[in-house]
Amino acid sequence: MGTFAVQIAKAFGTEVTAVCSTRNVDRMRSIGADHVIDYTKEDFTKNGKQYDLILAANGDRSISEYKRALSPKGTYVMSGGSGAQMFQAMIFGPGISMTGSKKMGNLLAKPNKKDLTFMKELLEAGKVVPVIDRCYPLSEVPEAIRYLEAGHARGKVVITVAHNN
Ligand SMILES: NC(=O)c1ccc[n+]([C@@H]2O[C@H](COP(=O)([O-])OP(=O)(O)OC[C@H]3O[C@@H](n4cnc5c(N)ncnc54)[C@H](OP(=O)(O)O)[C@@H]3O)[C@@H](O)[C@H]2O)c1
Repeated sequence: MGTFAVQIAKAFGTEVTAVCSTRNVDRMRSIGADHVIDYTKEDFTKNGKQYDLILAANGDRSISEYKRALSPKGTYVMSGGSGAQMFQAMIFGPGISMTGSKKMGNLLAKPNKKDLTFMKELLEAGKVVPVIDRCYPLSEVPEAIRYLEAGHARGKVVITVAHNN
């Protein structure tokens, strides 16, 4: 999700900060991130910086830490991570959004023709390029799923279906 989010945000002309581990820093820069924070070395919720939009794809912070890192009218979107994070966004997000200027909540992708057409245009224009981590043959789907479930894939995991012809 992060590799697409960075590129889509850049296509909108946004200044993007990516948060990732050391081994992914160069990759985030290569897909356009303006700033990269290595989460093994720096806590982006404690560096004094604030962000207009935080997309949490796999972060492990509490909702109050994300709130601290939001600018006064910022928005936090929880789209992936642990069950506890999903719970916090669903239970506390609406209250925080109603009582203050910061908006916090969760997002579940709802594919639709308009968005997919927009993505097609970005892909065709080369503004978004899928980052592929590994390819597995169909016979190794269980291994591919195990790799994904470990939560450290560095891009898309592709299943290759061989054709006889
Ligand atoms: N809301 C929706 O509609 C929707 C749709 C699709 C997926 N999801 C969810 O979104 C999440 C991301 O999915 P994904 O497909 O991108 O694959 P993923 O395999 O869950 O993400 C792997 C990436 O997350 C990074 N990561 C792990 N912990 C991190 C942390 N604390 N801070 C920053 N990065 C961290 C890993 O880097 P390192 O190994 O270097 O840490 C790796 O690059 C999952 O929880 C998935 O279930 C939600």
